[in-house]
Amino acid sequence: MIAVRHLILALAAAGAMALAADAKAEPAAAPPATLPGAALYQARCGTCHSLDANRIGPAHRGVFGRKAGSATGYSYSPALKASGIIWNAANLDQWLQGPQKLVRGTKMYLVVPGASDRAAIIEYLRAASGK
Ligand code: HEC
Repeated sequence: MIAVRHLILALAAAGAMALAADAKAEPAAAPPATLPGAALYQARCGTCHSLDANRIGPAHRGVFGRKAGSATGYSYSPALKASGIIWNAANLDQWLQGPQKLVRGTKMYLVVPGASDRAAIIEYLRAASGK
């Protein structure tokens, strides 16, 4: 009888640990496609960009934390390559308010006027970069 009670306690403890582990794993497991920024990214950026292929603009996976102008195989403007920018939330927000203002001579012109749209797109790029 005592042994059975111990077994039940042990199982209950294991169950609680499994629940705790699940709760902790949740945010990392959410794929970027489910973020609000995913649809905005497709609509606003998808004409020229994708996460994994260089198109009119460079591939974006890993862009968060990466040096500007460093996606393999993409032909950047000399201006962006020489900018010395390391992409983060703050300078991506500036970039999306006016690429030409941040880096005079860049090949990108698109502006995203809404602050909350920019924030959602930047969050999507961050998640897609595993950051
Ligand atoms: C009309 C085409 C076009 C659209 C739309 C566009 N871009 Fe770009 N983007 C470019 C081009 C071209 C470059 C390369 C700029 C250069 O070399 O100077 C670029 C570069 C970038 C870079 C720099 C990447 C790096 O590797 O340094 C970021 C970040 C970026 N775009 C984000 C976005 C986001 C986010 C959107 C959507 C809100 C967007 N772009 C929409 C054409 C576009």
